[in-house]
Amino acid sequence: MQEDKSKAGVYAKDVLFQYPQNEPILCNLSLTIKPGERVALLGSTGTGKSTFMETLVGLKKPLSGEIWIQGILLQQKTLSQVRSQIGFCFQNPDDQLFMPTILEDITFGPLNYGLSLETAKEIAENLLVKFGLEKYANRSVYELSGGQKRLAALAAVLALKPDILILDEPTNGLDPLWRRNLAKIILQLPVQIILIASHDLNWVSKVTERALILQCGQIQVDTSIQNIIQDVSTLEYYGLPIDY
Ligand SMILES: Nc1ncnc2c1ncn2[C@@H]1O[C@H](COP(=O)(O)OP(=O)(O)OP(=O)(O)O)[C@@H](O)[C@H]1O
Ligand SMILES: [Mg+2]
Repeated sequence: MQEDKSKAGVYAKDVLFQYPQNEPILCNLSLTIKPGERVALLGSTGTGKSTFMETLVGLKKPLSGEIWIQGILLQQKTLSQVRSQIGFCFQNPDDQLFMPTILEDITFGPLNYGLSLETAKEIAENLLVKFGLEKYANRSVYELSGGQKRLAALAAVLALKPDILILDEPTNGLDPLWRRNLAKIILQLPVQIILIASHDLNWVSKVTERALILQCGQIQVDTSIQNIIQDVSTLEYYGLPIDY
């Protein structure tokens, strides 16, 4: 296994990805996120934010380039090791939740990593309370509202206590109260890295410090989130008008 401690965190170099019979979506994209960073991934619809996140967790394989996670080169034989470090929340919670009940979805990860049923249930019950879902523990995903699905998917990801948290549009479907609750939860998490794709600029500015804008397959802007939320012309230029 290739290891390089200088590539701790998230390290992507010249990542090229394209869907079959399509133009490349990620065009030799390079990016380093160091432990301790909280990063917003911005970019207009269809620019490849979800695709990039899915390459980082090995769900999509680049045609070329390298991805290192916590100093480990992402490849077939390191996939499970890399995945054990990352909590990834899909843009669509239906992609995340697949067990008969929400409780089983949340205990699935901890059980898979060898924790006892008792411990897994304790973790799940705490998370259900944290996300206001105690009443819905034994419901299936099809019996939840959009916002409840989102919260259940987040709970399932946090149950693994990941070092690196990657969230794809985590506020979709959440009401203002839960957007605020989620911001508080995120700010208290003992994770090393958070990467969040979001169109909710105001919200994401409360939970991140660094902002990236993806366009034409590359990171075009890399600055502080406070800079970018005040830079109306740059946001307009990249198709991200504020207040809409
Ligand atoms: N399975 C697929 N096959 C072919 N093209 C795809 C597939 N999935 C996504 N795409 C295309 O790849 C591009 C990037 O999609 P992606 O979902 O990564 O964008 P995004 O930046 O996350 O957008 P959004 O802000 O709407 O979530 C889009 O043009 C999309 O149509
Ligand atoms: Mg997306």
